[in-house]
Amino acid sequence: MCGITGYIGYRDAYPIIINGLQRLEYRGYDSAGLVLYDGTQINLAKTKGKVSDLVEKVSKKEGNLGIGHTRWATHGIPNDVNSHPHTSQSGNLVIVHNGIIENYDTIKKELINRGYTFQSDTDTEVLVNLIEEVQKNNDVKLGKAVQIALNEVVGAYAIAVFDKRKPNEIVVARLGSPIAIGVGKDKKEFFIASDASPFIEYTKDAIYLDDEEMAIIRVGKDVKIRKINDDSLVDANIQELQMNLEQIEKGGYEHFMLKEIYEQPRAIQDTYRGRLLRDEAIIKMAGVEDNMKKFLNADRIIIVACGTSWHAGLVAEYIFEEFSRIPVEVEYASEFRYRNPIITEKDIVIAISQSGETADTLAAVKLAKEKGAFVFGVCNVVGSSIARETHAGAYTHAGPEIGVASTKAFTTQITVLSLMALRLARAKGTMSSSVFRMYLQELELIPQKVEQLLSVNEHVKEISKKYLLSTNCLYLGRGYNFPVALEGALKLKEISYIHAEGYPAAEMKHGPIALIDDRMPVIVIATSKGHYEKVVSNIQEIKSRKGKIIAIVTEGDTTVKEIADHVIEIPDSEEAFSPLLTTIPLQLLSYHIAVMRNCNVDQPRNLAKSVTVE
Ligand code: F6R
Repeated sequence: MCGITGYIGYRDAYPIIINGLQRLEYRGYDSAGLVLYDGTQINLAKTKGKVSDLVEKVSKKEGNLGIGHTRWATHGIPNDVNSHPHTSQSGNLVIVHNGIIENYDTIKKELINRGYTFQSDTDTEVLVNLIEEVQKNNDVKLGKAVQIALNEVVGAYAIAVFDKRKPNEIVVARLGSPIAIGVGKDKKEFFIASDASPFIEYTKDAIYLDDEEMAIIRVGKDVKIRKINDDSLVDANIQELQMNLEQIEKGGYEHFMLKEIYEQPRAIQDTYRGRLLRDEAIIKMAGVEDNMKKFLNADRIIIVACGTSWHAGLVAEYIFEEFSRIPVEVEYASEFRYRNPIITEKDIVIAISQSGETADTLAAVKLAKEKGAFVFGVCNVVGSSIARETHAGAYTHAGPEIGVASTKAFTTQITVLSLMALRLARAKGTMSSSVFRMYLQELELIPQKVEQLLSVNEHVKEISKKYLLSTNCLYLGRGYNFPVALEGALKLKEISYIHAEGYPAAEMKHGPIALIDDRMPVIVIATSKGHYEKVVSNIQEIKSRKGKIIAIVTEGDTTVKEIADHVIEIPDSEEAFSPLLTTIPLQLLSYHIAVMRNCNVDQPRNLAKSVTVE
């Protein structure tokens, strides 16, 4: 939800800001803008559209200070005027903002009464003028004015603001939206960004602000961090970044999504590496080990998540209940937080989030903590808000996921959750050591099977050609593969804009069957171990209504081959781990259909990678 970036130092800010915006574009791509300041003149360029459109608009590129923004609109439609940066009425202050100021209307009315006029419909222009008004009335420096103003606003923000009368300084602040500060050598330069990707080629030293913190960044000085509400000083914790440039580039693939689909063998392996020790027949996960008593005494596990992460949670429900016999409930974080849930100290809440920044999931975590639950995070982004807010956790090691449609995050989340369920199964004695060993071996074979499975790409591409003009699609699966059907449908609708629904296969006759005719493609997951005969009956029911069947089957299947219009074979595996395989052809199918429909695969309309607003 909007990306912000900034630079202050001795280099030309322009290429750093533009590159940074391109890397942050996954966070929002309605509009883009930047400001460059050379100490005398402010050069502002902004536009509806993408960062590439912005490049066309920038005429003056001078300045060692710059801030930029890529927008996912909240207040005000995407247009040039509503794009960021926004300047204050005097023209002295310039701001970029990610988030929402909820009480902006009241503040705006007050400012209008005091003579302010507004160019845009945004809450951000209100905020920058509020800071200016505070500065005027209190005769304080920028940092103090930002602090006073932020204490008056309700909402969420990550901001970067500077005052043209102080060209050596940028002030940043955070509440609910992430912000990282890159510290250059000898503090001769600083970088600002919503995540560290815009500055990894310049520095590995980063400070991540916590909620309710602000920082004053001055060239040549230590970064000064304060609590916004009580003014107390906070130590700047400089962390070393693990990310590298290669990970955030396309590496020869046409799209990030395809690259990330192909990265899954490595990502799954990286996720269990060091945790799954097959020779010793153990699973080592510090976050689980250190809190084993809590897990063993838990009455139930509640999983909270959104979107694809919620689907991974549904798969985990089957795995946890089967392996470790702990009751599991899976909740949309957005519903959980608003329905006064019954949570006790004997509940364990697992929050799943690739970005670690999803506003609803973060709010669910806070609520669960308040109610006394032990909260465990499964996040991909190291140091993200959810990772920090939870009592303990386990990272997925998928590497940066840049394509807006989640792929490798899903399979690595299932990997982490499977490891947890297996570990708990042994601790609880709900699984024999021989079965446990068998599962360890099976999980270790998954990367190799995914690798082998990726060779279906061309076959899936051929199938895709036949269905690119479809307007509706049905996805069916049972048991472990019911959530995969939901995930397959989500992937297709979000990147190709074809309406798609996922259903448990047996539910088809309770309604969706009415939709089936000869124009309806039905994607059925019919692996040999997942209630196979029952799914075959469902396939027959579709066939007799002339639906077009694309079936995902286990290698060597002959029965479904006879009935289905197309089959895609996957390697055999234990049923519990089959979602790690069945999901791959579905990702490829939606990818190819979207490409053939000329959709922007990596940046689908109206979406953003990190949903930091409710
Ligand atoms: C779909 C997708 C979204 C995210 C959801 C949660 O492809 O990417 O549905 O899964 O917005 O995001 P995280 O996992 O970052 O909390």
